[in-house]
Amino acid sequence: MKKVLMVCLGNICRSPLAEGILEAKVDPEKVLVDSAGTAAYHVGNLPDKRSIEVAAKYGLDITNQRARKFVATDFAKFDFIYAMDESNYNNILLLAKNKKDEDKVKLILNEISEDNHSVPDPYYGGEQGFENVYKMLDEACTIIASKL
Ligand code: 4NP
Repeated sequence: MKKVLMVCLGNICRSPLAEGILEAKVDPEKVLVDSAGTAAYHVGNLPDKRSIEVAAKYGLDITNQRARKFVATDFAKFDFIYAMDESNYNNILLLAKNKKDEDKVKLILNEISEDNHSVPDPYYGGEQGFENVYKMLDEACTIIASKL
């Protein structure tokens, strides 16, 4: 079983979408997908309504998800840890204990091209931001799924 963790700040907008999108592209018997946030503001909450809506528009139900915080023990549990942006990436690495932990962490958009782009935080914007995030994550997750 390969285990993939998607990480953003609040675990209510970007990483729940990444979790739902990748999950739909893999065999659930071979790949486990989860998500977490580096901040605890929204722990226990459903994904943001706008993420739920854009996922539903593309046929995905992400309402089974509840936000949780990223913890140091996630390094042992997961094989691949994808950060949505540079700030998430840096905050995850602060909890790494060794090179093995560090090597598990990647910026998700580097799967598309290795130029360190971030998935923009859509929280304070409108619905178009969520559509934009969905498209980027769909492209990245297609590549991730093809390699798993
Ligand atoms: P996410 O978006 O990191 O994609 O889940 C955010 C959600 C909440 C906040 C910021 C970003 N917040 O400041 O509460």
